[in-house]
Amino acid sequence: MQKKEELYSGKAKSVFATDNDDFVVLSFRDDTSAFDGEKVELLSRKGMVNNKFNAFIMNYLAENGIPTHFEELLNDTESLVKNMQMMPVECVVRNVASGSLVRRLGVEDGMTLSPPIFELFLKNDALHDPMINEYHIETFGWAKAADITEMKALTFKVNSLLQKLFAEAGMILVDYKLEFGLFKGKVYLGDEFSPDGCRLWDAETRKKLDKDRFRQGLGGVIEAYEEVAHRIGVQL
Ligand code: C5P
Repeated sequence: MQKKEELYSGKAKSVFATDNDDFVVLSFRDDTSAFDGEKVELLSRKGMVNNKFNAFIMNYLAENGIPTHFEELLNDTESLVKNMQMMPVECVVRNVASGSLVRRLGVEDGMTLSPPIFELFLKNDALHDPMINEYHIETFGWAKAADITEMKALTFKVNSLLQKLFAEAGMILVDYKLEFGLFKGKVYLGDEFSPDGCRLWDAETRKKLDKDRFRQGLGGVIEAYEEVAHRIGVQL
């Protein structure tokens, strides 16, 4: 597979064309951003850690019946993935109240959510990723009704699988964000799953092991990502 021109550069990853239209190269950079790109820093090793972390999770999910865009790890910071048409929607599941849910509704941080809460956001930095629902998505044509149903079902299936994976390694999966796309008309999990896009707490101490360390200036960001990777068995 020949890597060709850059197609897109996001806040933490870049996408490159290949000589096969069906596949693109996802390149994980060390750039770390928060607050819609207002806080940006280079954190050494982050690209490598997230690339390998994501490969591990995507493989685990695929082995357990989740269709994903992941094809193969190419090197320390790059992976080959399906060239999907992404849906501009973020699917969030919350098992424990934190972050924007607490700010929005004034509920207690750390409260267990039973049943878990599912939320949808429009992927749009200029509008600060506003919360939306199924009606906005269908009416404005961001995805078809059947594809929204599929995304939601897959997001909950991922929740059962990952809650178990992290619980067995002594962590609580507080919440996470997934993005999906279409490849040859079918819905696949896209983007990445890494501590950049989820909240993970140590089950005993509730120490934050995710991007909240960066958002809140707690330090030890990559060390925490590496600890999570180590605990679930990712080879870095
Ligand atoms: O900020 P909020 O509490 O809504 O985030 C919920 C979850 O989704 C968190 O794990 C956060 O890291 C993730 N998220 C993300 N990218 C966004 C918004 C949220 O990865 N643009």
